Amino acid sequence: MKARTMMPLLGRLQAQESLNVGVIGLGYVGLPLATLIASRGHCVTGYDISESRLRSLHSGESYIDDVPSLQVAELVKAGRFTATSDFRTLEQADVAIICVQTPVDRTLNPDVSHVLAAAESIRNHLHPEQLVVLESTTYPGTTTELLLPFFQETGLVAGRDFYLAFSPERIDPSNHRYAIEDVPKVVGGVTDICRDVACTFYGTFINTPVPVSSSTVAELAKLHENTFRTVNIALVNEMAFLCDRLGVDVWEVIEAAATKPFGFMPFYPGPGLGGHCLPIDPHYLSWCARREKFGMRFIELAMQINESMANHVVGKVTVALNTLGKPVQASNILLLGVAYKRGVSDTRESPALRVATLLQSLNARLAYHDEHVEEVRLGDETLRSEPIYPDDLAKYDIVVILTDHDGIDYESIPDHVPLVVDTRHAIRKARYPHKVFRI
Ligand SMILES: NC(=O)c1ccc[n+]([C@@H]2O[C@H](COP(=O)([O-])OP(=O)(O)OC[C@H]3O[C@@H](n4cnc5c(N)ncnc54)[C@H](O)[C@@H]3O)[C@@H](O)[C@H]2O)c1
Repeated sequence: MKARTMMPLLGRLQAQESLNVGVIGLGYVGLPLATLIASRGHCVTGYDISESRLRSLHSGESYIDDVPSLQVAELVKAGRFTATSDFRTLEQADVAIICVQTPVDRTLNPDVSHVLAAAESIRNHLHPEQLVVLESTTYPGTTTELLLPFFQETGLVAGRDFYLAFSPERIDPSNHRYAIEDVPKVVGGVTDICRDVACTFYGTFINTPVPVSSSTVAELAKLHENTFRTVNIALVNEMAFLCDRLGVDVWEVIEAAATKPFGFMPFYPGPGLGGHCLPIDPHYLSWCARREKFGMRFIELAMQINESMANHVVGKVTVALNTLGKPVQASNILLLGVAYKRGVSDTRESPALRVATLLQSLNARLAYHDEHVEEVRLGDETLRSEPIYPDDLAKYDIVVILTDHDGIDYESIPDHVPLVVDTRHAIRKARYPHKVFRI
């Protein structure tokens, strides 16, 4: 890290100077962002409080699927990236970006305690000409209502002495079609100059920064994007219920509708929502609406429908086993895929775990296979990923496909087991249709 200078940040950015950048929170968002910024010539210090994550990074190991260990090791070796829990070095940071988690509490209200803790680490070292950006998804108003007064308690004024902005992260883990730098990035400041400085900074490693009029617009844009997905997934899940009753293949219906070149975007049914975004972000919007004394009924309904999918899957398992005269209790069930989506190892809020918990409560004998997930904790039990060679499959009464990772010959699975419930349309052409149950 270079020694800090008091020169105006905008001028330094325009002169294409390399900056000291601190990224706080090195998770699914922070680590890919930190490595991208470092690879574009800035000097990045990543901060985290997780000892195990820091240990991995110090030994040149990445724990995020989309960040190769080799890239981390090379950046560390080149002196472009270091990881630490020592926040004192934020003193030297020209830019500090907050990427910590934003969960909900037990009553589904926003829990911004991690954002506040990260902000406190920054505030302890806030200095003139520093840019602070919040990237964590949060409710509209967080930047102006919570962070702005918090930072200004130092006596420094945003837009005059330092810069404060919100820029939502749009990373889509395991989606190799869109690199982070290719996805336009919305940027809103608490003042116009804050936005302009933040946009110029992002322009040094993102192809298309998208300036908006305020940090609140940027916060709302992110929640709108993810709520849009959540609501449309709920709609198609409801279509799946109807198609099931009508004996129609919902996947064929969607493919047919998707041939319309305008005004339609396909979404697909599944066992429910997972990950740190879709099951959580709409609750931030709902909470904000409740503060304004009205309810966002679309969100409540969508969340209910998506939550009900796990029960629907268990219903399918019950019906399938019934065809063989078996109860769920004591049946040998293999869950295929437990990560929340294809190509990732993340099991946060995974619908597969909700299905597993329900089946466990019915005393099923559960096992799972997932190349990306070595072990999972289910109540008091710890399960480890089992092999799925044909001889291994033969011992199960039923396989439930919950995550359609690549690299598995799904069509051949019904060759080796009596029954399959396919929640992802992984089996396109079933050789034994009577064995395959779809949602
Ligand atoms: N995961 C995604 O696909 C995704 C996509 C877009 C946006 N987001 C949003 O980005 C944010 C981060 O999500 P994530 O999935 O990267 O979370 P994560 O849990 O993987 O990472 C957060 C990291 O922050 C660290 N941390 C927590 N408190 C800290 C503190 N006070 N100081 C330093 N480090 C601290 C944690 O130890 C953890 O390593 C969330 O708001 C999320 O909604 C996530």
